[in-house]
Amino acid sequence: MFDARDAFAAPAAPAPTLREDYRAPDWLVPDIALGFDLDPARTVVRARLSVTRNGEHDRPLRLEGEELELLSLTVDGERREPVLEDGRLVVALGGAEAVVETEVAICPEKNSQLMGLYASGGILCTQCEAEGFRRITYFPDRPDVLSRYRVRLTADKARYPVLLANGNPVEQGEAGEGRHFAVWEDPFPKPCYLFAVVAGDLACNADRFRTMSGREVALGIWVREADLPKTALAMQALKDSMAWDERTYGREYDLDRFNIVAVSDFNFGAMENKGLNIFNTRYVLADPETATDADIDAVAAVVAHEYFHNWSGNRVTCRDWFQLSLKEGLTVFRDQSFSEDMGSPAVQRIDQVRTLRAAQFPEDAGPLAHPIRPDSYLEIANFYTATVYNKGAEVIRMMRTLLGPERYRKGTDLYFQRHDGQAVTCEDFVKAMEDASGVDLSQFRLWYSQAGTPTVRARLDQSGGRTALHLDQSVPPTPGQPAKQPMVVPLKVALIGAASGREISPERLVVLREERQVEPFANVTEPAFLSINRQFSAPVIVVAERKAGEIEALAESDTDAFARYEAGQELMQRDLLAAIGGGELRTEAVVTAVAATLRSNALDPAFKADAIALPGESLLIEKLDAADPARVHTVREAMRRAIGVGLKDDLSRAYMGTSRADPSSLSGEAKGLRRLRGATLGLLAAADAGLGRTLAARQYASARTMTERQAALMVLAMLGGEEAEAALADFYGRYESDPLVIDKWFAVQASVPAEETLDRVEVLGRHPAFTLANPNRLRALAGSFAGTPAAFHRADGRGYDWQAEIIVAADKLNPQTAARFVAPLGRWRKIEPGRAAKMRAALERILREPGLSKDVLELAGKSLG
Ligand code: PHE
Ligand code: ZN
Repeated sequence: MFDARDAFAAPAAPAPTLREDYRAPDWLVPDIALGFDLDPARTVVRARLSVTRNGEHDRPLRLEGEELELLSLTVDGERREPVLEDGRLVVALGGAEAVVETEVAICPEKNSQLMGLYASGGILCTQCEAEGFRRITYFPDRPDVLSRYRVRLTADKARYPVLLANGNPVEQGEAGEGRHFAVWEDPFPKPCYLFAVVAGDLACNADRFRTMSGREVALGIWVREADLPKTALAMQALKDSMAWDERTYGREYDLDRFNIVAVSDFNFGAMENKGLNIFNTRYVLADPETATDADIDAVAAVVAHEYFHNWSGNRVTCRDWFQLSLKEGLTVFRDQSFSEDMGSPAVQRIDQVRTLRAAQFPEDAGPLAHPIRPDSYLEIANFYTATVYNKGAEVIRMMRTLLGPERYRKGTDLYFQRHDGQAVTCEDFVKAMEDASGVDLSQFRLWYSQAGTPTVRARLDQSGGRTALHLDQSVPPTPGQPAKQPMVVPLKVALIGAASGREISPERLVVLREERQVEPFANVTEPAFLSINRQFSAPVIVVAERKAGEIEALAESDTDAFARYEAGQELMQRDLLAAIGGGELRTEAVVTAVAATLRSNALDPAFKADAIALPGESLLIEKLDAADPARVHTVREAMRRAIGVGLKDDLSRAYMGTSRADPSSLSGEAKGLRRLRGATLGLLAAADAGLGRTLAARQYASARTMTERQAALMVLAMLGGEEAEAALADFYGRYESDPLVIDKWFAVQASVPAEETLDRVEVLGRHPAFTLANPNRLRALAGSFAGTPAAFHRADGRGYDWQAEIIVAADKLNPQTAARFVAPLGRWRKIEPGRAAKMRAALERILREPGLSKDVLELAGKSLG
C-alpha cells in the first residue's frame, strides 16, 4: 500500500558514487591564483581560475563548494549573478577558455571537521584530501584536474609570523596595519587535494639534503618553539627516506624546499601536500623520554610514507578516488620496505602482518568488506581503510615477488616515466608492470576487484615414496560479490626434515592459480614438515594439515624467521581455540615452545618478544562463530598464567637480563631488549599479581624511557589497586603539559581488559582534559576501549551504548573521525546472540539520530546489514 508519509517524511537517501560512472572533466584549470586574507574568525579567499574547455561539448563549468559564503563572481572581468545548484556554482561559458574569479569568506575557527582551512592551537592550516578544497574555494574538486598554483597569504604579523604554502617562496613583505604577506609558487601541476597553507608562530628545525644529482634542498620541520628538541628523530628519518628513495627507486626530490608542519588536531596520521607535508604531532614529536620505541618507529615510517608520496601520489596521482590504492598501497609498500631496510626485516614483517590481521582481515570478513579498488561509495573518507592501504601494499608486494626485484624495478621506472604529471588508474600501474617485465598479470588483476581474504588449504602428501603439495583455494562471498574466481597466490614454500630439522627442499615460489593444484617435490623421500607462506608472501589464511609434532617442530626450527613465528602462533591458537570451544586447556606444548624461545641463544630479543606473545583476543574472536568474549579472555588469561607459572625462572632471568638495555640507544638491540622486557613482565604479572606489582612499580619508578614506563603502567593498571592509582596519578602529574603523553594516560586506562573498565571510561569521558574535538584524545579513549574486547563486550551491552553515544556526539563536530569508531559495533556477526542483539540495537540507535553525517550513515547502515 502506498503511504504518503514514506514519500515526504524521510530525506532522500544520498546516492552512491560509482566507479563505472567516471567521466573526464568538462573543464580543466591549468592555472590558479589564490589570495588569502587570513583571520581565524573570517578569512577571505580570492581565486582566479584560468579554465579551458576539455573536448567538444557545451556543458557549463561546475564548481564544488561547501560552507562557503560567496561574495562575488566575475567571468573575464565582468560581474556575474551566481547560479547555485545543490551547492555547486554553475557558470555558463561561451568560448574555449575563460578567467573565472570568485571571492568567498570562510570561518576557520568554527571548522571542527578539520577539513579545509581550520585552526589548531593558534596555527591556521589546511587539510584537503580527499574533498576538502571545496571548503576553501569554489573549484572542480577532483584529482584529475591538475593546476599550477600561485598563492598569496596575508596575515597579522605578530600572531602569524610564519606563512607557508606549497612550492617555492617568491616574494614577501609588509602589508600595513601590522599585517604581512608572502607569495608562494608551485611549478608542478597538482590536484587540489595536495594544496596546503600554514600560518602560525612556528619555530624551525632547519637542515639540508644534497640530492643524487647534487642539488641542495632546504629541509624544515616547523613546530611550536618548545617542541623543537623533539624533532631530531623526524629530521633524521626524512634524510634517510630521501636517500633511500634515490637508492631503491631512483627517485630524486624535485623542489628546492621540503617542509613538514606539526599540528595537534588532525584527522589522520599525516598528509603529503606537495612540498609542505602536514603532520599530526604524534608522528613528528618524539624522544625516548616521552615516546615509546613503537611511537618512534611510527614517526620514521610516517615521515617516510609522506615523503615517498612525492613520487607515488604527487608526481603520478590518482584519476579518481576509486584509485586510492594506486598511491596508498604502493606508498605503504614503499614505507614498509624502508623500515625493513633500516631495521630487522623479520621483526618488521611480523609487525606488518599483525596489523593486517588485526585491522584488515576482520574488515575483509565483515559487512564493510570492499576490494582494494572499491566500486562505489557514499563518502570517500570512509575508504581510507586497512584494505586500501595495507592489503593494497600486500598486492604490490606480491607483484614484486612474482616479477622478482629487477623486473619490479623496471616496472616502477616505466610507471613513473610513462605517467609523470598524470592522474592515472590502478590498471595503468599493472600495465606498466606487465609491459616492463613481460609477465602476464591478467588473472592477478582479480586482487584489485575481488574482496575477501582467500583461504588456502595445504596438505603435504608423502604416501607411496613421493612428496607432493596439495593446495586448494577459496575466496569467501562478500557484500555484492557472492561468487569468486580463483586468484593468483604466490606462496614461498620450503620443506624441513622431520628428523634433521634442516631444509631438505630449499625455499621456492609456488604460484597457486587454480582452485586445486598439486606441486610435486622431486627427490624428497624422508618425512618432511611444511613451511609455507614464508615471509607471508601472500595475504591469505593458510590452513595446513599438520602431522603430530609438526607445528611444535617448526616453532622451534623453521629456517624462515617469519614462518617460525607463525608456527608458534598457530600452536598457541590451536590450544586456545580448543579450550574456548569447550575442551580442556592444554598448555604443555605452548609452555615448551615458549621455554625454547626464551632459552635460545640464536634468537634476537625483539623476535623473542613477538614469539612469546599470545594471539590477541580480537584475533581469536575472528576465528570463532558466536564468540563469547568473556570466555575468550578467561581462557587466554589462563594460558598466560600457565606460561608465567611454568616458566617463572626463565621469565625472571630474561626480564632481569633486559635491564641492560641502554636507555639512550635506539639500536635494534636496545629496542628489542625493551620489547622483551615488556613481554616478560606481562607474563610474570599474569602468573603472580604480587610479584607483578612489585616489579612493575619498581620499573615504573626507575624507568628512563617511555617504553619502560608505559609498559609498567599498563601492567599496574591491569592489576589494579593502590599501586595502579598511585602510578596513574604520578603519570598524569608528570606529563600534564604534554598532550601526546596524556593521550597514553587515557589509552592505558581504557585498555584494561575487564568489565569494570567502562566505569572508568565513563568518568574519563567527563575529565577536564577530555575533548571530543581532538581526534587523538578521542582515539585514545574510544578507540582503545573498543579495541579491548573484554571491556567493550560487557555482557550487559553498556559498552556498546557508550560507544554509540560517543559516535553520535562526535559526529556533530567531526564526522570523519566519528565514523572511524563504527566498525567495532559491526562485528556482531562474530559474537554470541545475546551480545550481538545489543550491538545491533546500538547501531539502530545511531541510525535513528537526526542529522547524521553521510560518513556515519554509510558505515552504520552497512554494519547493520
Ligand atoms: N594521504 C594521507 C596519507 O596516506 C592520509 C590522509 C587522508 C590524511 C585524508 C588526511 C586526510 O598519508
Ligand atoms: Zn598515504
